Amino acid sequence: MKNDPLPRLDIDDDVRRALLPFCRLGPGKIWRDPDGRHAVGCLDASDAHAMTELLGGRKADLCVHDPPYNLVAFEERELAEYIAWCRRWIENSIDIMAANSALYVWLGADQRNGFQPLPDFMVMMRRLPIEARSFITMRNQRGYGTQQNWMAVRQELLYYRKGKPAFDVDAEYTDIPKILRGYYKKVGDQVTENIERSRSENIRAGNVWVDVQQVFYRLEENVSGCYAQKPLKAIERIVHASSPKGGVVADFFAHSGTTLLAAERLGRQCATADIDPVFCELTIRRLEHYRATGKLGWQNANPFEVDLEHNGDRPKNGSTSERIARQTTLF
Ligand SMILES: C[S@@+](CC[C@H](N)C(=O)[O-])C[C@H]1O[C@@H](n2cnc3c(N)ncnc32)[C@H](O)[C@@H]1O
Repeated sequence: MKNDPLPRLDIDDDVRRALLPFCRLGPGKIWRDPDGRHAVGCLDASDAHAMTELLGGRKADLCVHDPPYNLVAFEERELAEYIAWCRRWIENSIDIMAANSALYVWLGADQRNGFQPLPDFMVMMRRLPIEARSFITMRNQRGYGTQQNWMAVRQELLYYRKGKPAFDVDAEYTDIPKILRGYYKKVGDQVTENIERSRSENIRAGNVWVDVQQVFYRLEENVSGCYAQKPLKAIERIVHASSPKGGVVADFFAHSGTTLLAAERLGRQCATADIDPVFCELTIRRLEHYRATGKLGWQNANPFEVDLEHNGDRPKNGSTSERIARQTTLF
């Protein structure tokens, strides 16, 4: 594999379009895993019928959604439309969720724009038959706005439940060592402090996660071309805590396929969708790549490398962008 990443596919539409001929799924199509466990659909999350079809008669024990929240300007009407759109795919989620199941939603709170869309989303959720459970914050390494304001370094994650799903956080210890002594307690005749009494050297996962590395090009799990990839560690934490082994996990916004990979690694079944055929293809390839090599992603290499190099008279040299730029003239 070469150091030849795809450019960000949301910015470089020429490249995105040039990759379309290599994509298995067109709009409305569903790929079913030959191993019979997972499904990837090129579908619109707000389409109730499509989401039911994606699940293929199963009910989800867990939904983990990471919708786009890149509203550029927060005019009231645009925000209201965004929230109305969210309500549609949330209702679709509730429909496909088992009687006892969990729902997690990643959402932004833009401090430059009235913290939108998070507060409006939370208020909208109060009207739905689902119970709010936790508001988790994950800390990023990098942020924005250090000169005139506190640097924005957080990602917000909301946790809801339908009915009373199992929640297995007992084993969910972080990699963060316990360093605070205290909480003295008498056990028998001995006065002990909390570190002595604890089962683990590390702290438990609470609702602030500071032990998750953001995805960047040096990490094996990196999928080049993806601009919004969530860390596998965070998704695996959710899948482990909130779904049973063998259970069904749904993610309506696949992108780089992180939830699918987490489900594969943790022995769950995954039903995932993306409206964009290129991200559906990346998602399927990420699973196949993992099954073939054990690797979590492509680091800084190109997931379409083989297609690009074996494609007839296409140039073998030059960067991905150059090669694809030349290809676009062929299509
Ligand atoms: C923030 S990314 C998800 C990132 C993902 N959690 C990961 O780790 O790679 C959002 C994705 O939603 C997709 N998307 C946008 N609108 C959609 C819709 N209506 N239905 C399904 N997918 C949609 C985009 O193409 C994009 O890939």
